[in-house]
Amino acid sequence: MNEAPRLEAVTPDNVALACAIKVAPEQEAFVAPVVSSLAEAYASYATAWPRLVYAGDEPVAFVMGGFDPHAEIEFFRCGIWRLNVAAARQGSGYGRFAAEAVLDEGRRRGADRATVLWKPGGHGPEGFYRRLGFEPTGQEFAGQVVGAIALT
Ligand SMILES: CC(C)(COP(=O)(O)OP(=O)(O)OC[C@H]1O[C@@H](n2cnc3c(N)ncnc32)[C@H](O)[C@@H]1OP(=O)(O)O)[C@@H](O)C(=O)NCCC(=O)NCCS
Repeated sequence: MNEAPRLEAVTPDNVALACAIKVAPEQEAFVAPVVSSLAEAYASYATAWPRLVYAGDEPVAFVMGGFDPHAEIEFFRCGIWRLNVAAARQGSGYGRFAAEAVLDEGRRRGADRATVLWKPGGHGPEGFYRRLGFEPTGQEFAGQVVGAIALT
């Protein structure tokens, strides 16, 4: 990692930069564009937790946690909804930092488990999530694998 990352909220000052964060073309099938996630965050303002990862002055990643302890579907109660690391900044630990930030927020809210849903496929994030300790639960949702990790 070149610069120590830090987490920032999405504000009127940085929202355009947030929307400019793009993954590599072959990864686009695996995650929604940031602009769509921010629209969802607006609509789900009570449960969405959108944040930017900065390296110095530059936002290099977008992550969105979802915290809805009363959700009917158990794997929507606490987890990572979205994660987009700018193509040129991948492989430098920013994805791990962003994911850990969501897990820390889950712990802060008293959750004992966090989930993520990923689409299987060659350019997808499965290897990344497994490296972080997520394991498939055996469930599937809308063609996506449900992964979970204990928050100890
Ligand atoms: C998946 C993604 C978030 C990873 O972000 P990143 O910043 O490149 O990952 P990091 O540098 O933090 O990697 C953390 C660890 O995971 C490993 N890793 C990263 N991507 C991996 C992959 N595709 N397969 C296997 N391991 C991977 C790294 O080697 C590193 O391992 P280490 O701890 O031994 O050094 C990023 O590639 C991305 O934005 N992909 C496109 C969008 C996407 O799929 N988002 C997820 C939607 S659910």
